[in-house]
Amino acid sequence: MSTYLPNDDMASFSRVLSKSKHIIAVAGAGLSAASGIPTFRGAGGFWRKYDAISLATPEAFRNNPSRVWQFYHYRREKALQCEPNPAHMALAAFSNKQIREVLAPRSTFTLITQNVDGLSRRALDSIPSSVPGIDIDAGAIDSQPVLLEMHGRLFDVVCTSSACGHRELNFTSPIVPALAGTEKFVEAADIEPEIPTTDLPRCSKCGALARPGVVWFGEVPHYLDVISKLVDKADLCIVVGTSSTVYPAAGYASEVQDHGGKVAVFNLDRSEGDEDADFLFLGPCEKTLPAALGLKKD
Ligand code: APR
Ligand code: ZN
Repeated sequence: MSTYLPNDDMASFSRVLSKSKHIIAVAGAGLSAASGIPTFRGAGGFWRKYDAISLATPEAFRNNPSRVWQFYHYRREKALQCEPNPAHMALAAFSNKQIREVLAPRSTFTLITQNVDGLSRRALDSIPSSVPGIDIDAGAIDSQPVLLEMHGRLFDVVCTSSACGHRELNFTSPIVPALAGTEKFVEAADIEPEIPTTDLPRCSKCGALARPGVVWFGEVPHYLDVISKLVDKADLCIVVGTSSTVYPAAGYASEVQDHGGKVAVFNLDRSEGDEDADFLFLGPCEKTLPAALGLKKD
């Protein structure tokens, strides 16, 4: 990695921000780090004990749904204990048209997150004046989506029967009695109970085995068509707390730059491709992002 550091001047970033018309943010696990959710590849990443590739695949689920459900149950319980941090709140505030009108007049903004923890959605929900009438999902293609959770959601539960395919939001804790307390085993890397599939989460419509509604390795992320249109027209891409190693998200910043847009990276450490960024703000995004967006509370 080169030792050249791109611009870290907040004032010149503010000038670029104020002139941008189509802004996207691409977020990763570092956005939620300050909330207490471990990242995948940085310090404290719990994937090091439990290899992401080995658990986050359709094959792993087919071979051992009990283990994979215990892992996702652990992540659901963790996410439920955590709160959005100032970086989530800054992005949520920036999603508000009235607030953005001051910082980047007549601009659009969409947050594209790889995170499945639901914290960005909770941050949006907690902003009282959150723009009414704007669909925060990609459902309505014509309206600008505010938030795209491209890797799915820990609290989505999806039927494994292709004939059914029922999907529902489920915040129940624990999701089924058989998973209660198993997060302790996972945390301690202890021996784990084998839960019969009949006691694992089942589809509420057809009774088939249900799976976590997250995008596993080898599966296609959500909203790719919508995202590709947003990337094509973006003139500013804000990259927050991602190692930029997992595609397609890792490629969005350079696509924006390729057609003349600017890129600003917010990361605790150096990350993949950041030497090409126009701006690089090294440090915790829960501090740098509110400041850079002009939303810092003093
Ligand atoms: N502020 C800013 N950046 C931070 C912070 C923080 N407080 N804490 C950690 N980071 C940075 C790390 O330096 C690292 O570059 O966040 C990044 C987290 O990277 P990963 O753990 O690789 O997470 P992510 O990029 O989201 O991973 C992408 O990989 O395992 C899959 O599907 C999973 O969505 C995930 C995808
Ligand atoms: Zn079903």
